[in-house]
Amino acid sequence: MQFQPLLEEIVAELRADLGREGQVASYIPALARVPAAQLGIALRTREGEEAHAGDSKTPFSIQSISKLFTLTLGMRELGEALWERLGREPSGNAFNSLVQLESEQGIPRNPFINAGAIAVTDRLVSRLDAKTELLKLVSSLCGEAIAFDEEVAASEAATGFRNVALANFMKSFGRIDNEVGTVLDVYFHACALRMSCLQLARAAGFLCRDGAHPCSSEQVLTERQARRINALMLTCGTYDAAGEFAFRVGLPCKSGVGGGIVAVVPDRLTLCVWSPALAPSGNSLLGMKALELFTARTGLSIF
Ligand code: DON
Repeated sequence: MQFQPLLEEIVAELRADLGREGQVASYIPALARVPAAQLGIALRTREGEEAHAGDSKTPFSIQSISKLFTLTLGMRELGEALWERLGREPSGNAFNSLVQLESEQGIPRNPFINAGAIAVTDRLVSRLDAKTELLKLVSSLCGEAIAFDEEVAASEAATGFRNVALANFMKSFGRIDNEVGTVLDVYFHACALRMSCLQLARAAGFLCRDGAHPCSSEQVLTERQARRINALMLTCGTYDAAGEFAFRVGLPCKSGVGGGIVAVVPDRLTLCVWSPALAPSGNSLLGMKALELFTARTGLSIF
């Protein structure tokens, strides 16, 4: 299949809509300044073929896409024990909601809502130098040095009152072992990783390769663990719009409020789209349209 002309066609088609609809995330001040009229798309096949178009090499704040990598480290470090304090169900609520935590005794519904990622981060902090390991993992996966955007991390720390509340609430149930400030420092830095579409399409490659590293013979996760991440992405990866994503796109996806979305075609390829203006659900508006065009034109949906 010729992916390069297809990606160029999708970007050309959507360019007319750039900046016309949606809102750049404004609750994190450093994100509110990102120009909305940008659109990038990149993919990498299981065999290593790459294609990309538009602003595919522009680094952006990956935000909740980082929850994929935190979960990967958590699965690798803790195995089945990770699920002692973590569910696997869609929440049906906003990604930063507190409501279910009370009736569910501080156990987050899944690893892709904020509470879930904070809970995984806590387990990592107990076992390793989590910021260093996270940087090592993403840099190794995409074959380039990746860094935190310290300005975004500071901006989140200054305004992340909800996350402080979520972490303290879980701690009140005995579900967080470390100091809330230490755990959130790692969580905010993970959200503040700066990567481009091309780097993310590469870094997520192990998800279409049964857990095998995208460019070495190393096994990042077991086949079963990688397939389980895909299952969680399909059911919980796009906030409260996972049903709409399955309906319109038909691929496991993980989005972030920086406007990026990573998608997996199991056994075939990984792709990443980015456009900062968001739909009310918190997902990139043009990113969602680009993925919909991609699956409609290639027939590469899981259904
Ligand atoms: O914690 C926050 O609210 C942001 N750093 C991440 C938000 C995001 O992308 C949505 N998450 N599930």
